[in-house]
Amino acid sequence: MTAMTHRDRLVLALATACFLIIVVIEGFAPVNVVGAYGYVLPILLVTTVRNRTIMLVTVLACVIATYSGLLQPTKPGRFQAAIINRSVVVGVLLLVAYLGVSWEERKAREEGARAALSQETENLLKANTQLVQAKDQLNRSERLAAVGQLVASVAHEVGTPLHSIAWHVQALAEEPGVTPDMKKRVAIIDDQLTRVVRIIQDLLSSTRPRQPEPKWLLVEEVVSPSAVLMEPAFHEKGIVLTVDSPKDLPLVWADKEKIHQVLVNVLANALAATSAQGNVVITTGSREATSIELDRGRLVADGMSPCVITIEVRDTGCGMPDEDMQKAFEPFFTTKAIGKGTGLGLFLSRESVMAHGGHLALTSELGHGTIVTMTLPAMQRESMQKKEEV
Ligand SMILES: Nc1ncnc2c1ncn2[C@@H]1O[C@H](COP(=O)(O)OP(=O)(O)OP(=O)(O)O)[C@@H](O)[C@H]1O
Ligand SMILES: [Mg+2]
Repeated sequence: MTAMTHRDRLVLALATACFLIIVVIEGFAPVNVVGAYGYVLPILLVTTVRNRTIMLVTVLACVIATYSGLLQPTKPGRFQAAIINRSVVVGVLLLVAYLGVSWEERKAREEGARAALSQETENLLKANTQLVQAKDQLNRSERLAAVGQLVASVAHEVGTPLHSIAWHVQALAEEPGVTPDMKKRVAIIDDQLTRVVRIIQDLLSSTRPRQPEPKWLLVEEVVSPSAVLMEPAFHEKGIVLTVDSPKDLPLVWADKEKIHQVLVNVLANALAATSAQGNVVITTGSREATSIELDRGRLVADGMSPCVITIEVRDTGCGMPDEDMQKAFEPFFTTKAIGKGTGLGLFLSRESVMAHGGHLALTSELGHGTIVTMTLPAMQRESMQKKEEV
């Protein structure tokens, strides 16, 4: 049985009042059976409460009250007619009660079906959103896999001639007529070749990045190292870099090294976009998680509280036009000169943040600046203490 609402209680009070008024009227005019038809009113009111037990009690009370009119003195010879009249009233009351209950029950079934349908629709929409996200993720992974294949094949193709160059360079150094000066130059060539090989190996390993291994950490522990690392570059360009980080934030779910890389990427972009006298501010904070953030976070972050940590990097740089903003997270999208940027910074950063169960987003206004916001799962410090106590 569902709990009674305030409205139901009001309706029941009204029905009881109606019933009592009719009982009183009946007491004054027992001969007049018309008054008994009034019991239809409390019955109709009670049907809206949609409770069979209450309905049964009401109908029973109305039937008893109708027949109790017979106890009053009637004119001689009219008793039989009174019984018939009151039985007709009782029949009408029973019919009204039956029709009323059936009508209300049908309405309740329809409402239930409508609610179930809207719940189904909501679930379908949610599933659809998840599907779109999964498709996006797949697209991104496919592109990354393609990048990996490309790099691997380039490394392989370049590796073969490099090895033969290295072999010939070494052979050259062992030639009998080689002067010390030539030897020095050959050593330099050999050194640089080794560097190229190392760069290619690094490139190969960066296409198979290690998965993040996040832990619950203090926010400042995650943010400070990147600010400290990048500060001199900002200072040199005449840009003020500030960190605005309140104390006592919840803990953040982060792989220190990975989030450090993300922040360095984002700060490098801000540095490139901002001219002297500009400002770049890193602001950390926390807020309540949306249901999507909570679903996403709880998949990976063990013991996440219903809140998230936000790390925002705001610059007063050149900003981006709308069409660039749409493409900023695409792999290889860059506005930098050839050789100056790979266009992978934001793409890989978003991948990394998403692997933490978080999100990386960006808003920008051309000529005014850009805000990059990282959202990561959070845990209230008390929850951590409780977890440790268990
Ligand atoms: N803070 C910013 N202000 C203005 N434009 C930005 C900012 N951050 C990114 N962008 C734009 O987004 C593009 C893509 O950035 P992303 O970091 O992915 O690659 P990149 O910086 O071009 O290359 P890389 O990161 O390899 O140096 C940039 O080329 C730039 O046009
Ligand atoms: Mg970049």
